[in-house]
Amino acid sequence: MMQFPNDFVWGTATSSIQIEGSPAGDGKGKNIWDAYSHNTDRIRENHNPDIACDHYNRYKEDIDIMKKIGVHAYRFSIDWSRVLPDGTGKVNQKGLQFYSDLIDSLLENKIEPYLTLYHWELPLALHQKGGWLNDEIVEWFGDYAALIARTFGGRVKNIFTFNEPQCFIGLGYLQGIHAPGYKCSVAETIRMSHNVLKAHGRAVQRIREAAPDVQIGFAPTCGMPYPATDKKEDIEAARQAMFEIPPDDNWTWNVSWWSDPVLLGHYPEEGLRRFHDILPDITSEDMKLISQPIDMYGQNIYNGWMVRMGDNGQPESVPRSIGYPVTATGWPITPECLYWGPRFLYERYHKPIYITENGISCNDVISLDGKVHDPGRIDFEKRYLTQLQKAIADGADIRGYFYWSLMDNFEWTEGYSQRFGLVYVDYATGERIPKDSAGWYHDVIARNEI
Ligand code: FCB
Repeated sequence: MMQFPNDFVWGTATSSIQIEGSPAGDGKGKNIWDAYSHNTDRIRENHNPDIACDHYNRYKEDIDIMKKIGVHAYRFSIDWSRVLPDGTGKVNQKGLQFYSDLIDSLLENKIEPYLTLYHWELPLALHQKGGWLNDEIVEWFGDYAALIARTFGGRVKNIFTFNEPQCFIGLGYLQGIHAPGYKCSVAETIRMSHNVLKAHGRAVQRIREAAPDVQIGFAPTCGMPYPATDKKEDIEAARQAMFEIPPDDNWTWNVSWWSDPVLLGHYPEEGLRRFHDILPDITSEDMKLISQPIDMYGQNIYNGWMVRMGDNGQPESVPRSIGYPVTATGWPITPECLYWGPRFLYERYHKPIYITENGISCNDVISLDGKVHDPGRIDFEKRYLTQLQKAIADGADIRGYFYWSLMDNFEWTEGYSQRFGLVYVDYATGERIPKDSAGWYHDVIARNEI
């Protein structure tokens, strides 16, 4: 058994549209996922998030479940269009009230709120004005951040700006398989990325002004290369692979383009060289804005791939073995990513790290005994958390872990087909059934060891 640090934060995570439902409830505006999910054939079996887990109406029950599991913290996101139906301007007080009640209820139950400002739900009205291609979005996002910090900053002490910019730009605007389903040019997506990063910086400034006590973070993601052996050259190969930028049709999927500007104050040389002819204007003021000091570095880590040093002195990936283990989504199961990922990230950026998401979807069913047995999830968690503990023991400053997800929910274009929850949701009735893993997670938290 291995202990975690005494003040380690054990949590669980969700995002607004994946669980809330009530898409038109109490004056909410539409966001791009509300619209996209009603375009036929975009989402598996034409599912949509209109009801989802009905968390908007059942949040108290969900908080009770979290309390029973014993989590210290809950990471959730605000639906921008619920509080600002047009993205800017008129505030929807009822939308703010929902999040206010949620936060109060969390605090009453001694669960620390970790709030994410943007988990992919761009207000439709802003999308219609050009969205991330419109440079004004930097101020739109700043104003939204200020509203949230002003309203909740006395009660919420941890705010993340963006969740996984790699995904919402890459899948949404380059590959066209997430909302809004566009296939833009690389030049356009690079320009969007610069606006996302500037919007991040502006939000940091506006949160600091409104709520100086809040800890501010950024929550990107990536696949994590890990070395084939403990040999120095393989470790070096994995480290190099971790910070490389993939080919153009998949360029967003990397660590350095998104994190170097925020944490080191400059874009990676490799990217500047590669994209030289298509870069937007990047001024030193922009870089200053983007690299506003932040307090914590979130990282969503699900899997990785094995890398070794090739004979030509370049990293090369090692083919996966036949029959390698996968989750129900088909994602590889690679616990090593939770050791090497945070280690490499901490070496490069020296920021306290929170694993803002990690988890597994399984083919969970309600058994004849009425319970949901999910040994695959428990096994996955044991393997991954063992690696995470080892990374901490070897010196990476990792402060917390948020299991994705509290409950089964709307998994974007996969609809409801992927069950990631510690809690099973029967979508026909809305009933919640804590899975075996919820009890297991309770014990891990109580003992603070794996
Ligand atoms: C991450 C997303 C999260 C969820 C998990 C499975 O990429 O941030 O919303 O879909 O994957």
